[in-house]
Amino acid sequence: MKVVVTGGAGFIGGHLCEYLAKQGHEVVVIDNRYPYYDNGRKERRLDNLSRYANVQLNKVDLLDREGIKTIFQDGPYDALVHLAAVPGVPYSFEQPEEYIKNNITGTLHVLELAGEAQIPHVIFGSSSSVYGDQEGPLKEIDAVGQVVSPYAASKVSGEAYAHMYQHRYGFQLSILRFFTVYGPEGRPDMAIQKFIERAQAGLPIDVYGKGTSRDYTYIDDIIMGIYQTLLYAKGNEVYNLGSNSPVTLEELINELKLHYPAIEINEKPYRMGDVKHTWADIDKAREQLGFTPAYSFREGLKRTIDWLNRTR
Ligand SMILES: NC(=O)c1ccc[n+]([C@@H]2O[C@H](COP(=O)([O-])OP(=O)(O)OC[C@H]3O[C@@H](n4cnc5c(N)ncnc54)[C@H](O)[C@@H]3O)[C@@H](O)[C@H]2O)c1
Repeated sequence: MKVVVTGGAGFIGGHLCEYLAKQGHEVVVIDNRYPYYDNGRKERRLDNLSRYANVQLNKVDLLDREGIKTIFQDGPYDALVHLAAVPGVPYSFEQPEEYIKNNITGTLHVLELAGEAQIPHVIFGSSSSVYGDQEGPLKEIDAVGQVVSPYAASKVSGEAYAHMYQHRYGFQLSILRFFTVYGPEGRPDMAIQKFIERAQAGLPIDVYGKGTSRDYTYIDDIIMGIYQTLLYAKGNEVYNLGSNSPVTLEELINELKLHYPAIEINEKPYRMGDVKHTWADIDKAREQLGFTPAYSFREGLKRTIDWLNRTR
């Protein structure tokens, strides 16, 4: 397959591109290295990808229509995996217009140009945040637009544009809603990564939202879900990709204490935009794609800490 991946310098994109390259596929990356977090991590992921002869790296912004068009004309491609976005809930309250620019306008460009270039299959990386503040397990039909952050609103909008351009151009559309992804090379603004990096350095950790839970999903399971979508998805569908096994904040702290017994915890109040629980119903992905998460939280956390130990 020849696959174009936006956001290939990012956490999920970096892992996906490497996996595709190892499977022998041709990968074309689009990423502008948006400075939401330390660009050293993105450079490291790109350095890693540059070792593969079948990966082509392009520093292009989604807002640069001509730049995207030129790359899309260099096909034919079998699929587009659109992962580029500004992530993060707290930052979206500080800079909501960044999310409109990059996540909505940027997505609109990518979808429209993919349609014009006749890319046959578009995979859009969406998020559990589109469910808003609801109890789970949540099925794909439970997203009703009642979101609680500008980030989530940008993802709902991206999904709506994806449906609209699917209708206009007739490409196959798969929308994947990822549930709190963690693992080696993870994003430094996200809980697990932040906690283990601070704990390793002997620093206290701030935990927000007593009584909350998250359906933490190990990166390799997400990559497998995306790959299965590339291989097996039929028609136009929305799928949850999660572990279907939520972990409470208290359970997370207990697991961390197994690795860092002296860890110091500062409890902080609820943060605007954070939902109380996330919990994916994954029956649809399981039945239609063969998606079967393989990593328990304990195993995924251990692998992430082992990676951190190897890199320090
Ligand atoms: N990590 C998670 O837990 C999670 C959960 C749900 C959804 N998602 C979604 O998955 C996707 C990937 O997330 P991630 O965790 O890898 O984030 P990430 O920030 O590590 O990766 C996103 C990449 O997009 C690039 N990007 C941003 N704006 C761009 C623009 N205008 N032009 C070109 N490139 C641009 C960034 O440089 C970055 O490398 C995002 O769409 C995110 O919303 C992630």
